[in-house]
Amino acid sequence: MTAALASVPVSLGDRSYDVLIGHGARRQLPDVLPPAAARAAIVTQAGIGLDVDPGVEHVVIEIGRGERAKSLATVEHICRELARAGISRSDVVVAVGGGMVTDVAGYAAASWHRGTAVLHVATTLLAQVDAAIGGKTGVNLPEGKNLVGAFWQPHAVICDLDALSTLPPEEWRSGYGEIAKYAFLGVDGLPGMPLEEQVRACVALKASVVAADEREGSKRMILNYGHTLAHALEAAGLAADAGTATLRHGEAVAVGLVFAARLAEALGRIGAGRVAEHRAVVSSFGLPATMPRGADADQLLAFMRRDKKAHGDLTFVLDGADGVESVPGVDPGVVRRILSEMIEEATS
Ligand SMILES: NC(=O)c1ccc[n+]([C@@H]2O[C@H](COP(=O)([O-])OP(=O)(O)OC[C@H]3O[C@@H](n4cnc5c(N)ncnc54)[C@H](O)[C@@H]3O)[C@@H](O)[C@H]2O)c1
Repeated sequence: MTAALASVPVSLGDRSYDVLIGHGARRQLPDVLPPAAARAAIVTQAGIGLDVDPGVEHVVIEIGRGERAKSLATVEHICRELARAGISRSDVVVAVGGGMVTDVAGYAAASWHRGTAVLHVATTLLAQVDAAIGGKTGVNLPEGKNLVGAFWQPHAVICDLDALSTLPPEEWRSGYGEIAKYAFLGVDGLPGMPLEEQVRACVALKASVVAADEREGSKRMILNYGHTLAHALEAAGLAADAGTATLRHGEAVAVGLVFAARLAEALGRIGAGRVAEHRAVVSSFGLPATMPRGADADQLLAFMRRDKKAHGDLTFVLDGADGVESVPGVDPGVVRRILSEMIEEATS
């Protein structure tokens, strides 16, 4: 038996689809397959212990783990396996995994026969509340992250909360970093909400932003809140406070949210109370609010200048009287001062 599922629509005209959320949601897979699909190719990784049955003849294509495997070589591997299995344009690719798998399998599906349906079964918290929704697909190059990609909306997204039972603690923290972000984009009461409600509320917010601006012409940029510093921290390869492992994406976003709030305060866009709210929300999810050891203001500033969304100047997504919005032309001197203050506080 499948418990009652929540269904959140992503409204995009003839490319609209539903996100199904709940324990056992994977069992709905046969019901949401494209009707014309006679066969399926499941793209997944070793160690993802979620059994899915698409209800049609299928092959399983295993790919590597981690950002190094999020590559054109992996796309070639998937496409050659699709060829070997005789997957046609009317069949379906089913991505079963976190954001790495949904990004790569989504891009392979967008390219296979110039566009084959893809369906995401998201197995990490981050993929459930963010990566699997909205149609951004792609891979990395040695020159940078997500440089090659396509918008390719999935046919449906399944967020089965059962999948999360095997998720390691650092992947939970990573997902919570994105959930903390949504707390400042208009989802009230997130800390303390039951998990299923949190996922549903974040998916609904992302669905509404994607429906308003599918290709990130304007509004969708707010989903990058906290991400400018986060990407710089990740590019610098900094370690989480307690250990040697590098910061997971959501942990970097958490620090990025607090930084963005302090920057907005320095620019007179918000008051001290709102900055305190950022710290409180981040801490309530057990996430870091302070700069990791080894952070260097000039290096971080250099990475932020190279951010692919910066268009040649320092652009930040910042909170303000009208809510969170994209703010171009931010004074590098102010940015360096806030970075230095946060680094100083973390080391003192
Ligand atoms: N397309 C988008 O809009 C979008 C948005 C945000 C992030 N992303 C991308 O998502 C990726 C990060 O996704 P992620 O955080 O899910 O990481 P991930 O997909 O790399 O997964 C992290 C690790 O968890 C493992 N894993 C997955 N599900 C598991 C489960 N149920 N139990 C145990 N282990 C499991 C994976 O095998 C992997 O080793 C990045 O490449 C990022 O660029 C894309």
